Order: sequence, then C-alpha cells, then structure tokens
Amino acid sequence: LLSQMGPDAHMRMILRKPPGQRTVDDLEIIYEELLHIKALSHLSTTVKRELAGVLIFESHAKGGTVLFNQGEEGTSWYIILKGSVNVVIYGKGVVCTLHEGDDFGKLALVNDAPRAASIVLREDNCHFLRVDKEDFNRILRDVEANTVRLKEHDQDVLVLEKVPAGNRASNQGNSQPQPKYTVMSGTPEKILEHFLETVRLEQPLNETTDSALNDFIMMHCVFMPNSQLCPALVAHYHAQPSQGTEQDKMDYALNSKRRVIRLVLQWAALYGDLLQEDEVAMAFLEEFYVSVSDDSRMIATLKEQLPELEKTVKQISEDGKAPQKKHKVLLQQFNPVEDRAQKRQPVRGSDEILFKVYCLDHTYTTIRVPVSASVKEVLSAVADKLGSGEGLMIVKMSSGGEKVVLKPNDVSVFTTLTVNGRLFACPREQFDSLTPLPEQEGPTTGTVGTFELMSSKDLAYQMTIYDWELFNCVHELELIYHTFGRHNFKKTTANLDLFLRRFNEIQFWVVTEICLCAQLSKRVQLLKKFIKIAAHCKEYKNLNSFFAIVMGLSNVAVSRLALTWERMIANTVRTVRYCRSQPFNPDAALANKNHQDVRGYVRQLNVIDNQRTLSQMSHRLEPRRA
Ligand code: CMP
Repeated sequence: LLSQMGPDAHMRMILRKPPGQRTVDDLEIIYEELLHIKALSHLSTTVKRELAGVLIFESHAKGGTVLFNQGEEGTSWYIILKGSVNVVIYGKGVVCTLHEGDDFGKLALVNDAPRAASIVLREDNCHFLRVDKEDFNRILRDVEANTVRLKEHDQDVLVLEKVPAGNRASNQGNSQPQPKYTVMSGTPEKILEHFLETVRLEQPLNETTDSALNDFIMMHCVFMPNSQLCPALVAHYHAQPSQGTEQDKMDYALNSKRRVIRLVLQWAALYGDLLQEDEVAMAFLEEFYVSVSDDSRMIATLKEQLPELEKTVKQISEDGKAPQKKHKVLLQQFNPVEDRAQKRQPVRGSDEILFKVYCLDHTYTTIRVPVSASVKEVLSAVADKLGSGEGLMIVKMSSGGEKVVLKPNDVSVFTTLTVNGRLFACPREQFDSLTPLPEQEGPTTGTVGTFELMSSKDLAYQMTIYDWELFNCVHELELIYHTFGRHNFKKTTANLDLFLRRFNEIQFWVVTEICLCAQLSKRVQLLKKFIKIAAHCKEYKNLNSFFAIVMGLSNVAVSRLALTWERMIANTVRTVRYCRSQPFNPDAALANKNHQDVRGYVRQLNVIDNQRTLSQMSHRLEPRRA
C-alpha cells in the first residue's frame, strides 16, 4: 500500500487521523517528517515528539481561499507544507507572500489578540500543518522562537520579542502569567497598527497596564510626531475591511473605532494640558470627538465610550480657554506675578515671562514673551523695545564671564540659564566687550545670622516641600524632550530645568554660606548644621537635596578648609565608632553559587584614573553633537 500511495500520501493519511487514533508507529513516522521542516528546526526532540501527537493536516484545493480574516479571533498556528499564501492587510493589500516551510498565525495565539492580517491562498492545492490554540499554548508557547519579524514588501516592519511572564507589568493581577510578544522595533505606522490591535478594550482605562503601550504613547513624539500620529489615527478610525460577510465587516469596523478611541483616550490622558499647546493635536481631538459623536448616533456600542471622550475633550479644550488658566505671567524668578501663596502650578510654554535683557552698558530692557519663545522671538521682542534689531544677538552670560551666543532656534532659554546667569543682547562687534553684571557675583555677606535660628529639621522639611512642588510640576514628557533635544520638538522643558537648577542652587548655597563665614568657630557650627540638614533630608527620603548638600560640602572651596574640618574630627571619630558598632549583616541566602567570582571581581577593580584620558575616550565614543 505504502509503495502504491507514495510516502507523501501515506503521511497525509496518518496526519488526517484524529490525534487520539495515531499509533506509536504513526507518531514515529510523523516525528521523522518533522525533522525536515524549517519552521520547527529550532525545537527540541521532546517538543517535536509532542507535536507529532497533535499536528493536523489541512489542505485546500482552490487558490483565493481565505484561511482566516484580519480581526478574527485566532484559533490555530500554521506551517506551509506545500504551496504559498498571501498576507493581506486592509488598506494595504498584499504585504508579503509566505512559502513552503514558513509559518504564520502565532501572534494572535500568544498575545490573545485578533488576527493581524488575512491569509489568502495564492495557488490551488495548498497543504498545511495546523496546531490548534490549546495545543500550541501547552506545547509551544514557552519554547517558541524569541523573535518574530514581520515583513512588508521584503522590509522588516515590526520586530517582536518574547518577554518572559515575570518581566511584564501587565501580568500583575493575572492569575496565569504568560509570555507575550512585545515590540522591539519597527516602522512607526506598523508599531501603531500593532498597538491598536493589542489594545485591551475590556480593561478599565485607569488600569491600563501594558507598559509597552504606555511607552509608545509616551515616546511617539520622538519618531512619530502628532502631525503624523493624528492623521494615522483618523485613518485607522475610518478603516474599512475589504473581505468577509457584511456582518464581519461591520464588526471589524466597529472594533477598529473602539480601539482607536481607546488609544486616543490614553494618549490624551498622558498629555493632559500639554495638548493645548499643540495645534495639530487640539484640532485632531476636536474633529475626532465630532466623528465619534456622529457615529454613535448610528452605532449604539460607541455610546459607551462617548462620555469619557467628551469629558476628556471638554476638559482639555475648556481648560485651555478658561481665562484664569489661559496663561500665567511669571517674573524673572519664575514665580507668578500674583497668587504667590497658591500651590505651585507647572510652568507652561504659553505662560508669559517678564525678563530683563541687558546691554553692554548694563542697562536693561524688560521683555514679555512666552516661556517657550525661541531666541528669534526673544530677539524681535528686544528689537521692538530698543527700536532697532539690526545685527543683534542674544548672549548667555555666566557670573564667571563665560559667554555663549544663542542660536536662533534655541528654545527654553530662560530656564536653562545658570543660577546667576543673565541674558544680554548686543551687536556682534560688542560681543568681546560684554562683562557680567556686578549683581551676578552674588551676596557679599552670608545669611547664617538668619538661618542659624531655624532648626535643621524645619529647614530640611521646607526644602523637601519645595523640592516636591518642583518635582511634581515636571511632566514626564519633559524628560523626553530634554534627552532628545528640546529644539527638535519646539517644546519648553521649563519645569525640569527649574528642578535641576534647584540642585545647583542648594549646592552653591552651602559653599556660599561657608565661604562667607569668616569666624572659624561659626564655620564649624555651620558645617555641622549643613550635615544635620542633609541627614534630615535623607530621613525625608529627599535624596535630591541630600546629594546637593553633600556635593556642596565636597566642593573644593569647602573641602580644603582644613581648620574647619579639623575641629569636626571628634564628631567624625564618634560617627566611625557608631558605624562599626552595627556590623553589616550579609544575607546568606543571597550568596549564589558563583559568589567566589563576584567576590574576587569586586576586590580587584582595574580603572583608568586620568580624568583627561576619560574625557577624550568619551568624546571619541560619542562626538559632540553639531
Ligand atoms: P496572526 O496575527 O496570528 O495572524 C496573521 C499572521 O500573518 C500573523 O499572525 C503573522 O504570523 C503573519 N504575518 C506575516 N507578515 C505579517 C505582517 N507584515 N503583518 C502582520 N502579520 C503578518
């Protein structure tokens, strides 16, 4: 019989048997066959033997047959034994072709997501091996390849990587944590497509735990600015499937809409008030709301999400228009002109600032411009006041007399000045003659008389409250703008700048007070006081001020004051004695089997201690950006 049917036909016959009826010999034959399949080559013998028991043969006679449609629930994983299929995406058409030995369809199974594409047979008489979802998850989920590359027109458009269950925030509260494929890289459009597919509609909005999605919403400004994201979201919202029954198409279209709404809600929640400063985003949000409310008249299910969207849109657009919130006017010190007692509000790019810009002769003009104004805008404000702006440039001047000419496109110039830095405006030929203002030198007498009467604990407490206020005003996006260059986004990072600046201010406060304290005994008291304040800051878990003070104390201007420190030596000895009275109690359980290596390693550190060499190496690794 075997010889008459040929080996292929015999295989097919066995594979067509329901798995329960396969004999030991059958399983052996299937296993042998699996050894030749490319899609399985990375799997162990055990896994292949298990697969032999569950694989099902499936064949289709007609080209054009749809194996499954985009948006459907995934029920199986496939390997192509013979023939080829097209991967089809709505709105894109055929994005790639898969051939004998290729596999497809595991994304939906692993991520519990709808099918990312439709699969259509490209020729008659195609043969597949199929593994159904339950078997796939039992046998393959944990051992399947770590990386999935999706191609469109021969280009990698999405690279997904398996993240073990334990590493994902999204597993918290899940009874059965399972590995998933998450985005490693890809084209912005495909990444967006992927996130829309994997959005969990059933989760309450405030419990959204997919950290990869949050990262995308957070970071998209870097690779997909709102001017690209918003149109893409509109397109996805209106996506129409080209296959399936009328009901299928309706379901798919509705689902797309709900997913887009969901993503928009999350996006708007993250940006919050910042959206008001983005015209593209505001226009999109308002139009989007109109589309959704129109649609919800026809499609009842959309009504569920409408109130939430309405609330979000109204809040953002009305807040932006409310006169008291429209914009604040800030003084040079970044405090609002009025309402000083009020809780600190984040500085916004549209807030206006009254700022002094100095001339060669140390006279100044006060300009009033938005905080996010570019140097170009600062220049024209100055020129307006001076009556002429011919050849003017804007210069950042530090107290030490260092001058930096600002580029026309620089933004956030006010908040990035050094603590006593000032802005100057002058024609090019005056640049060399510019000198810092006397006031930039800072005080000539200390304030120890004032603050020696205050308790260290109170000082630390108030410092911590202030740090918290500044810290709370920093928007997460400012970190991104700061890292990738704020001028690329035309966004201010004022709140982050002010928070960082506070660190320097505290550091210099410590050095200033000590250096302005002429009397040795007083200086020793002062040193002790700063150490106490630092200790209290640490108690309040305020490591920002703690380190600022410690760095102030280790500034050479302070650390070289031998006489002052000598008088502190008794204290130091007492501290050392105290520290040693509480021996380090190593946790024996933590010591793992290669701790000998670790032990040896940490006791033999080899380092370069030449700062100049290190700086040179650093510049060679990453040359200064133009
Ligand atoms: P799944 O989402 O389960 O179903 C459709 C399958 O098509 C998908 O898994 C992938 O295995 C496969 N596929 C191949 N190329 C692409 C692509 N460019 N985009 C989406 N899916 C693709």
